[in-house]
Amino acid sequence: MSLIEVKNITKRFDENIVLDNISFSVDEGDIFGLIGPNGAGKSTLINIITGLWDCDKGDVIIGGYDIKTEPIKVKEQIGLVPQEIALIDNVSAYDNLEFFGSLYGLKGKLLKERIDEAFEIIGLQDKRKEKVKKFSGGMKRRLNIAAAIMHHPRILIMDEPTVGIDPQSRNHIFEFTKKTNRENKTTIIYTSHYMEEVEMLCNNIFIMDLGQEIAYGNKSQIKSLIGSSNKVNLKVNNYKIEMILDIKSMSGVLECTEEQGLIKLIIDENIFRLEPLLKIIEKNQGEIKGINFEEPSLEEVFLTLTGKSLRD
Ligand SMILES: Nc1ncnc2c1ncn2[C@@H]1O[C@H](COP(=O)(O)OP(=O)(O)OP(=O)(O)O)[C@@H](O)[C@H]1O
Ligand SMILES: [Mg+2]
Repeated sequence: MSLIEVKNITKRFDENIVLDNISFSVDEGDIFGLIGPNGAGKSTLINIITGLWDCDKGDVIIGGYDIKTEPIKVKEQIGLVPQEIALIDNVSAYDNLEFFGSLYGLKGKLLKERIDEAFEIIGLQDKRKEKVKKFSGGMKRRLNIAAAIMHHPRILIMDEPTVGIDPQSRNHIFEFTKKTNRENKTTIIYTSHYMEEVEMLCNNIFIMDLGQEIAYGNKSQIKSLIGSSNKVNLKVNNYKIEMILDIKSMSGVLECTEEQGLIKLIIDENIFRLEPLLKIIEKNQGEIKGINFEEPSLEEVFLTLTGKSLRD
């Protein structure tokens, strides 16, 4: 059984269906990507998974516990990094962690140890006495994460943890995510509309838009959804226009363009063969200096499946 099971979740706000029969499961130890543009329903779904909001239909089972009947057992297992930063602005970073730690029932020596550990993880040891209102956006995001991990949750849910922050904090959050997954075996749901982050971090991915599933599976399954078109880039010395015309007429070549000796092809993998391409280059006295095959990015998958960009 998977650690997290989301089954047929439907949620309405008045007449609007904002989640329409959403189902997926997350295995223990996975970094699971939840992607969709603004308004897709990601935060609503997270609020339901973490037991903050009710749904109209469906079930969430976490570690074998049903969120409806055993919400406390579910909540104990989860650390939530909310999209909206939830910190107390006019007290110090230390006091914030003390407060959030005590909400999880930590006290005394253990609470102090966990505060030290959390500061170490987020790399803000030297700012512990400073008031949060003086923090940059990136520092607040990092403290927001610290507040979510003090009880050593088995599952960490991060809702757009890198929006609008400086590159240094972004890298820090990235490295932390990979490290806690690797070393503590924390299962992570990582929500973002930055596709490249999800491509880098996640194994399994759920793409949604307007409350509906667009694609779900591992990276290669998702990429294969948009057919077998792929990219081939060729670096050629002694390039000629005839070469391009010949390549364009090859079967399996959907598009062919040239830029400063770099020939870019979009191919249908099922039909395309490398050998005739090499023959065309040879016939035109070209010399191949490099060749590489590129898979479509998740951004391209989304664009192909929905006709719109994720960052609209
Ligand atoms: N409390 C609410 N009352 C009414 N409608 C809501 C409420 N919260 C969210 N919605 C609507 O639900 C839909 C999904 O919103 P949600 O915040 O879950 O999207 P999201 O994918 O997290 O977007 P973003 O990337 O902007 O954070 C939107 O149409 C939003 O307007
Ligand atoms: Mg959101």
